[in-house]
This record gives sequence, C-alpha cells and structure tokens, in this order.
Amino acid sequence: MTTSARKPFRNPRARHNYLGRPCSIAAVGAYVPERVVTNADLEQLVETSDEWIFTRTGIKERRQAAAGEATSDLAAKAAQRAMANAQVSADQIDLIITATVTPDMPFPSTSCLVQQKIGAKRAAAFDIEAACSGFIYALEIGQQFIMSRTYDTVLVIGADKLTSVVDWADRNTCVLFGDGAGAAILQNRPGSHGLLTVCLGADGSKGDVLCVPGGGSRLPASTQSLAQRQHYIRMDGRETFKYAVQAMLAAGKEALTRCELDISQIACVIPHQANRRIIEAVSERLGARPEQVFINLDRYGNTSAASVALALDEAVACGRVQRGDLILLVVFGAGFTWGAAVIEW
Ligand SMILES: CC(C)(COP(=O)(O)OP(=O)(O)OC[C@H]1O[C@@H](n2cnc3c(N)ncnc32)[C@H](O)[C@@H]1OP(=O)(O)O)[C@@H](O)C(=O)NCCC(=O)NCCS
Repeated sequence: MTTSARKPFRNPRARHNYLGRPCSIAAVGAYVPERVVTNADLEQLVETSDEWIFTRTGIKERRQAAAGEATSDLAAKAAQRAMANAQVSADQIDLIITATVTPDMPFPSTSCLVQQKIGAKRAAAFDIEAACSGFIYALEIGQQFIMSRTYDTVLVIGADKLTSVVDWADRNTCVLFGDGAGAAILQNRPGSHGLLTVCLGADGSKGDVLCVPGGGSRLPASTQSLAQRQHYIRMDGRETFKYAVQAMLAAGKEALTRCELDISQIACVIPHQANRRIIEAVSERLGARPEQVFINLDRYGNTSAASVALALDEAVACGRVQRGDLILLVVFGAGFTWGAAVIEW
C-alpha cells in the first residue's frame, strides 16, 4: 500500500495524522549489553532447567548489563544508533522522552542523563513510566509534540535494566527478564504517515499482581525492607498471563478497527516479548499467521520498555519490515498497562 493511496480514516481516533502534522518514525536503533546469560547459567542459581524455561516461556538466553552499566548507558547507545540511522545530529533534538522502570536513580531523570551523554544540549528531557508498555506510551506522547508543531525532532527511548531488580533466588521470575534499550527518532517527514493510531489502556486495580514493592515513598529502603526482599520483582505469573492475553487482544483489535484494517493487511505483528505462549495466544486470536509475527524473545527474554523497540529495530535491520509496510505493535506491562499501535513504516 503506497502512502499516497491512503485516504483519511472515518474513525476520528485513527486520524491522528490528518488532525495535526503527520508524525513519522524516521529511524530506530537498539542496544543490548554484551554479557549473555543462558538457561544453563540459571540452572546454577535456582532449581530450574533449560527444558522448563524454554517450553514455558520460549526464552533461551538474555543479556545482562555489567555492574557499572546503568539504564542511561544502554539508552544513550540505542539513541546514538537511532540518530545515525535517521541522520539526525544531537543539536537537532528538541525533546527526549525515556520510558523506564529502572532509572539510574530516583532523580535526575534518565532522560537528563542521556541528554548529557549524547550531547543534546538544546533538548528538553523527562521520563515516563508504564513498565513494559512504556515505549508505546512514549511514542504517543512524542507524537503529540510533533503533531502540534511544538517540536520538530523527538527522541523516544524504551530502556530497562530489569536484572537490577530481579530476585536471583526466585525461579518464578529470574528466568524471564533481561536488559536492553531501543530508541526512535520522531519527525515530520514528507510522504510518510508513520503512526496511524495508538490505543492505550490501564487497570490500576491490578497494581500488586506485578510490582517492586519497596524503594519508593510507600516503603523507603531500610534494613527491614532489604531483609524482606522488598526491592525485587514480585509477580503472580498465572494472573499476569491471563490478563495479558485479554488486554493485548482487545488493544490489537481496537487499533485495527480504528484504521479499518484487516489483520491480513499487516506485514508484521510485533508483540511485547514476554512469553512465547502469550504471543501465540494473542496472534492466533487476532487471526495472524505465524509468519506475520516477529519474535526475538528467545535471545533477549523480557526487556520491559525496550522489548518492542528492540524487536522493531531487528525486524527493520533484517528486512522483515520494508518502507510502506503496515506494522502492528501490541504491548502489556505492570500497572497493569497495555497498548497497541499501527505504524506505516
Ligand atoms: C511465569 C510463567 C512462565 C509460569 O508458567 P506457568 O505455566 O504459568 O507455570 P505455573 O505458574 O503454573 O507453575 C508451574 C510450576 O512450575 C514451577 N516453576 C516456576 N518457575 C519455574 C522455573 N523457572 N523452573 C522450574 N519450575 C518452575 C512452579 O513453582 C510451579 O510448581 P508447582 O506446580 O509445584 O507449584 C507464566 O505464568 C508467565 O509467563 N506469566 C506471565 C509473566 C509475564 O509475562 N510477566 C511480565 C509481563 S510484562
């Protein structure tokens, strides 16, 4: 489908690009730390097996940042790759938005630290938090600044070092997560419609199903909170699984409906990479053929806010996504939060 053939959608909520200045994703970039942690490595830490992890999750290995490597280090490297791919220089960037649940520290924001690392001196900078759904939330926010003509170039990043909050003694969670970062440059680029719609949702009543209870204003760090392991991820896996399938399915369907698209018109479905069984359940119910669905979970595990950005970057780099293709991103995370976006690449 060529860009020029696209007519305005009847559904007003799908017509972002016709209500304001169109916002395209000029380019993406990603970075993962060097250290690979295999399922065999985890067999040395907890009572588990490669067979259990792979059949229940689809994960073979994940990346772990070095001790001195923080989220802003991963984020800055992903950002620099996106900037190079988009041929955008640091002084062109007007705004940096980083989605993360593992900031380097409570403040300053990770975006401010990235601003310094990449030398984007003109840029405003702030973080957002929507856990594993963060990248799509940040894309939607960034898009609004382009559409309203407030800014011309927005750097959106999804980055997390979840291994810093993983309880390495808890086999229910420690096998699932990894570290990484993905970034996108948003601009108005003539002839490109970019983000066609973004659907977001949340259910705060499920906050305790997947959380890190300690370290905030409710339970500040103390010897007691440390002893009670309150600073690590707590999760009810089954409850999360069930809710994720329902929410991702509903968001994906809503995004397609808004754009008056059938799933067969989508060249590539890029779901949040948390569990292969969640991805398959959502894709099947959306009516997607397996070859339409992009999966790199086996190599990275769940990288939280980086997940779909990392997958999108890889799909573009390996030619699975071509200019003009329609892509469906579908995400889910703690909060609970979820979202779906249709992108014309
Ligand atoms: C966590 C998850 C993989 C567990 O898979 P599951 O099929 O639901 O497994 P269950 O919770 O039913 O546990 C089955 C058994 O395996 C055990 N088990 C859990 N982790 C294990 C591991 N790493 N190795 C071996 N056994 C494990 C459990 O203790 C349980 O044993 P029990 O029956 O004796 O109590 C799955 O629920 C999941 O992926 N949930 C969603 C998680 C997610 O996506 N989170 C992030 C959202 S952004």
